[in-house]
Amino acid sequence: MTRSRSDWWRRATIYQVYIRSFADANGDGEGDIAGLLRRLPYLRDLGVDAIWINPWYPSPLNDGGYDVADYRDIDPRFGDLAQAKELIDHAHALDLKVVLDIVPNHSSSEHTWFQDALRAAPGSPERARYIFRDGSGPNGDQPPNNWRSVFGGPAWERITEPDGSPGQWYFHIFDVTQPDLDWTNPEVRDEFLSVLRFWFDLGVDGFRIDVAHGMVKDMEAPDLPYDESNLLDSPQIADHPFFDRDGVHEIYRGWRQVADAYDPPRLFVAEAWVEAPERLARYLRDDELHSAFNFDYLKAAWSAEALRVSIEQSVTVLGSVGAPATWVLENHDVERVVTRYGRTDTTGGTVQQRSDERLFDEDLGRRRARAAALLMLALPGGAYVYQGQELGLPEVIDLPDEALQDPVWERSQHTERGRDGCRVPLPWTSGGPSYGFGPGGSWLPQPAEWGAMSVEAQDGDPGSMLELYRSALRIRNTHAGLASDTITWRDLGSDVLAFDRSDGFVCVVNLGAAPVPLPEHRQVLLTSGPLNADGHLPADTSAWLVTT
Ligand code: GLC
Repeated sequence: MTRSRSDWWRRATIYQVYIRSFADANGDGEGDIAGLLRRLPYLRDLGVDAIWINPWYPSPLNDGGYDVADYRDIDPRFGDLAQAKELIDHAHALDLKVVLDIVPNHSSSEHTWFQDALRAAPGSPERARYIFRDGSGPNGDQPPNNWRSVFGGPAWERITEPDGSPGQWYFHIFDVTQPDLDWTNPEVRDEFLSVLRFWFDLGVDGFRIDVAHGMVKDMEAPDLPYDESNLLDSPQIADHPFFDRDGVHEIYRGWRQVADAYDPPRLFVAEAWVEAPERLARYLRDDELHSAFNFDYLKAAWSAEALRVSIEQSVTVLGSVGAPATWVLENHDVERVVTRYGRTDTTGGTVQQRSDERLFDEDLGRRRARAAALLMLALPGGAYVYQGQELGLPEVIDLPDEALQDPVWERSQHTERGRDGCRVPLPWTSGGPSYGFGPGGSWLPQPAEWGAMSVEAQDGDPGSMLELYRSALRIRNTHAGLASDTITWRDLGSDVLAFDRSDGFVCVVNLGAAPVPLPEHRQVLLTSGPLNADGHLPADTSAWLVTT
C-alpha cells in the first residue's frame, strides 16, 4: 500500500493519541508534545499510517481539552506552537500523517468570546456568538426549556449580568463550562474556516470533528420527553432539536472546499453519534466529509450475528456514497475493550454507564480483544487504534473517587463515574516512576499491574498483545489482499464470521463456544491465540489464512 496517495485515509490505520496520557517529557504528570515526539518511532514501528491527537489547545481541561479557550494555540502544559510544528514535520519525515481534533460545537467559557459575551448586554453582537436566551417563568428564573446536558443536569445556565442582576441563560449541551456557539451567526462560521486554514497552513493533514452531528439547532422546538430514570441518555427521537439536523451539511460543504484547496487535499473525520448508518452516510457525500467513526460497530455486542449485520450494513451503506467504512473498538469516551468483552453484556456506548460495575472476566475479555483486533484489521476500509489498545490495557474501574476528573462524575451527582478509567497514562516500562510515562507522577493513578502490561514488558514477547498488533499491521500493510475493497462472506455456521478479501486472504473468527475446523488453506498467516492440536480454531479466536 502506498501511503503518499491523496486518498491515503481510505485504508489507513489511525492511532489515537490522548496527549495528556501518552508520554510526559517534562515530568509534570501530564503528557506533552515533547513526549509524543520521542515516541514517534514507536508508532512508526507499530505500523500505523497516521496519528489523531486529541485537543491540545489552551484549555482549563474541565472536559479533557474539549473545552477550548484558544483555537490557534497550544496549551503550555503540552508545549507551544513551535513544538507542534516540529512534531508535524517529524511525523511527516517518518511517513506518519497528523490529524488534529477540532471542537466547533462549543468553546470553553474561558474563551475571550465568551468572556466578552458575559461583559456585554443582552442582544449585543458579543452575546450573539453563543446561545443566550431569557429564562421562563415570571422572573425569568426558570431555564428556557427542559433540555438536558449530555453530562447530566440542565443544558442551561443562568448568568449574572454586569450590573449584578440575575441575567440571561446560555445553552450548553455538555459541561456548564462548554457554552454552545451559535452557528446561525456568520461570524462563527467564518472564524472556524479561518481556524481550519491556520492548522492546514501549519501542515496538518486533517481534522477529526468533535460532535459533528451537533452545531445546528432548532432552538424553538418544544420540551423533550426525557426518561427521568436515565439522565445521561439523549432522547432517541426523530427530528432531534440539537443533534443530526439537516442544516449541518451545508457547513461541511464549505469546510470541504477549504480542505480541497490544499495540495494534497486535507481530510475530515466525523465524530457523529447518529441513529443509523444511513444517517451517517449523509455526512460522507462527495462534497462533504471524507470519513466517520463507525460507532455502530463499536456498539455491537461480541456476537457473530451482531457484528456481521454491522459490518454488512456499514460496507453497503457507506459504499453507496463512495465512502470507506471505518472500524473502531475504543476511544477516550468508551470502556476499554478488554473489559467490555469480559462482561456479560458486551455492547458498547457513548458515556460509560457501567464503569462502577466491578464484574468482568479479564482473561476472557483479553482473548476476545485479541480476536477482535484481527477481525477489525482484516476488514476493508480504515481502522482506529486508541492508545493502549495495542497493549490490551483494561479499563481502570477502581480509580479513587477523589482522582476522578471527568465532569460526568460531578454532573451526574456521583452516580456515573465517567470516562477516566480509559484515560490512565500509558505504561512504557516495567518499573520506575509512572512506569516510564514520565520522570514524575501521573495525573491519574496507574494500577500496580501496569508494569506487566508496559511496552517494555511486551516488546519481543510473541504472545503479547503488542506483538499481535505489530504482526497484524505488518501483514495489513503488505498483503495485497487487504488493499482491496472487496469482502465476500463464507458460511461456516452461525457462530463463525468468515470472509475472503482478495488474493486468497481469508479471515475466520470463532465467536461460538466450540472449536471449529479451519477452511482449506495453504498457510496460516497469523492467529490471535494457539490453534488446537487438531488444527481447529478455539472459541474466541481468529485466524488469518492464505488459500491460494
Ligand atoms: C466528544 C468527545 C468527548 C467530549 C464531548 C464534548 O464526544 O469525544 O470527549 O466530552 O465531545 O466535547
